[in-house]
Amino acid sequence: MLPILLTLFLTTLAVQARCDPDPSPPGLIDLGYARHIPTSINTTASGVRVAIYNNIRFARSPTGDLRFRAPNTDLPHVPDIQDGTNPGGPGGPGGPNDVSCISSAPWYIPFPGLNGTTWGQEDCLFLDVYVPEGVKPGDDVPVLHNFHGSAYAFGSKGTFFDPMGLFDAVGKGNGGKFIAVANNYRMGVSGFTWAQGEDLDGNVGLLDCLAAAEWTSKYIYHFGGDPQRITAIGQSAGAGILYYLTVLHDAHGTLDTPLPFQQIFISSPAGPQRRNVTSRQRQLFDLVLDTANTTSLAGLRALSETDFIALNDAMINQMPSEGGGGNLGPILGFGPAPDGSRIPDIPSALIQRGAVHHHDLKGLILGSMASEGQTTSSDEGMPDAFGALARRTLPNASNETVQEVLDLYYTPGLESQLAWDWTTDVVFACNAFNLARGLPGKARRYIMSTPPATHGEDLLYYFYVDDEQTPVSDPQLVEPFQTKLLAFLHGEDPQWPVYGDDERLFNITDSFEATTLPDSLRARCDLVNKLVFDPANGA
Ligand SMILES: *[C@@H]1O[C@H](CO)[C@@H](O)[C@H](O)[C@H]1NC(C)=O
Ligand SMILES: *[C@@H]1O[C@H](CO)[C@@H](O)[C@H](O)[C@H]1NC(C)=O
Ligand SMILES: *[C@@H]1O[C@H](CO)[C@@H](O)[C@H](O)[C@H]1NC(C)=O
Ligand SMILES: *[C@@H]1O[C@H](CO)[C@@H](O)[C@H](O)[C@H]1NC(C)=O
Ligand SMILES: *[C@@H]1O[C@H](CO)[C@@H](O)[C@H](O)[C@H]1NC(C)=O
Ligand SMILES: *[C@@H]1O[C@H](CO)[C@@H](O)[C@H](O)[C@H]1NC(C)=O
Ligand SMILES: *[C@@H]1O[C@H](CO)[C@@H](O)[C@H](O)[C@H]1NC(C)=O
Repeated sequence: MLPILLTLFLTTLAVQARCDPDPSPPGLIDLGYARHIPTSINTTASGVRVAIYNNIRFARSPTGDLRFRAPNTDLPHVPDIQDGTNPGGPGGPGGPNDVSCISSAPWYIPFPGLNGTTWGQEDCLFLDVYVPEGVKPGDDVPVLHNFHGSAYAFGSKGTFFDPMGLFDAVGKGNGGKFIAVANNYRMGVSGFTWAQGEDLDGNVGLLDCLAAAEWTSKYIYHFGGDPQRITAIGQSAGAGILYYLTVLHDAHGTLDTPLPFQQIFISSPAGPQRRNVTSRQRQLFDLVLDTANTTSLAGLRALSETDFIALNDAMINQMPSEGGGGNLGPILGFGPAPDGSRIPDIPSALIQRGAVHHHDLKGLILGSMASEGQTTSSDEGMPDAFGALARRTLPNASNETVQEVLDLYYTPGLESQLAWDWTTDVVFACNAFNLARGLPGKARRYIMSTPPATHGEDLLYYFYVDDEQTPVSDPQLVEPFQTKLLAFLHGEDPQWPVYGDDERLFNITDSFEATTLPDSLRARCDLVNKLVFDPANGA
């Protein structure tokens, strides 16, 4: 035994001597499997210096046999010091260090420059860590871990997330310091292809986010973060993933394995409400095979990276999207769905049965926008086209059922509103509603009505940087948004009513107005749940 240990010890010394002429360059963090120095030290508008560690690997490259597999977090040892610059591949829209997972953005996406394009790479399971100056190991500051929005199809840890404005809010005296983390995850074909009976794992994009959060729980103390005070935050698809994680089962089919974070902040959770998906997932899988000119999963795993990227482009950019808002792709689209194992049913159904992570979640903030269907659904040809829109979620709905929805949602003269309100509820708001109702006494809820109250507007407030990068319609709301988020993060009182049987929440208008959930909105989500739960509607 001793000679082995001695050899190991000497080898370690030799490796250090060879790779480490300067034993501790500034900001060096030794994770055990890899050593990182900051990629850059950036300065916020008010002069806070922040060390940014880009592209820390949290899982192996999901290529070859690991394609369509849960992330492999048996991390290889990397001898050289890493500075996070361009770890192989073309980078992303945020610059050469903005590694993106394979991304495709259809032409109708309102991001000029991105729409209609495909980018990214398969070796993408990296995360970024942001550490403000003065924070050092042992400080145990709270951690904000972000899952970016993506429509489950495009984007990255750097494109849709920037915590620099929030670090400034700390500088203005709003609570103490914190560390931010943001990760990539697989999207589209690579993240959400699944079919029963095939030798692959379901919802791997979601499991990537879980693995990244587990990384934070395990390693963040090296940077000065407190693994007992992690708030996971996400918007849109990122929030949808968090929503699904609240019901994630472990390999034994139980909820006994705690989530790797204690609090969640969910904004506009885009979570598809599709329960009985086995046959549609098979149809989508078969279409993926056809499009790839192959007949088997092995054929898909054998595709070169270039062909795999082209396949994703074909599925998302060149085919009509039938997801119905929130996610993209044909048939039911690519996104989280019941997979017969770790996600046994949709969250609303599991929450109703009490199969939700009650014990390990200490606090939640759940938000949605009053009119987020406005920019995320088609409103053409209403009300005649409404049946088709409703049947994206309820494929077997009868005409009587469609009429039941119209009776509640449609006011003649407000044709577009019909499509917007339905999409707002089915894709986003009712998910927030269901989770708040399922965790009474723990959740805090907001509905943001500040015009234009469309999807993603709230992000601009809590991550406000300046009027150019984050143009907000009501600058007075920035301070309360950031103050409340920081208080929540630090486990302090965010001055926010807790959602309970009285359904108290904030209606954010030109201020944070404490009110109760209007009966009309409760009735809408009750109807959505009733229809989604009724097997006759085929959800
Ligand atoms: C940090 O600075 C680098 C170099 O100037 C820049 O490329 C990057 O976008 C900055 N990151 C943030 C989050 O501001
Ligand atoms: C997509 O991008 C093109 C050119 O970049 C632009 O002309 C078009 O308006 C964009 N589409 C949308 C829906 O924003
Ligand atoms: C499948 O074959 C078609 C027609 O030959 C070709 O255009 C397409 O690029 C192929 N797709 C892949 C993913 O190889
Ligand atoms: C609904 O009504 C239309 C005619 O108004 C009819 O063509 C269609 O078959 C009906 N659909 C169902 C599912 O009953
Ligand atoms: C929020 O306030 C606006 C403006 O007063 C009102 O129109 C809307 O119905 C309110 N929403 C909620 C959820 O209370
Ligand atoms: C699920 O869908 C299949 C067809 O895809 C159908 O045959 C079956 O009856 C449905 N099961 C339930 C419980 O609705
Ligand atoms: C919808 O109804 C059709 C015809 O009754 C049936 O074949 C199909 O399996 C149903 N789909 C679902 C998802 O229940």
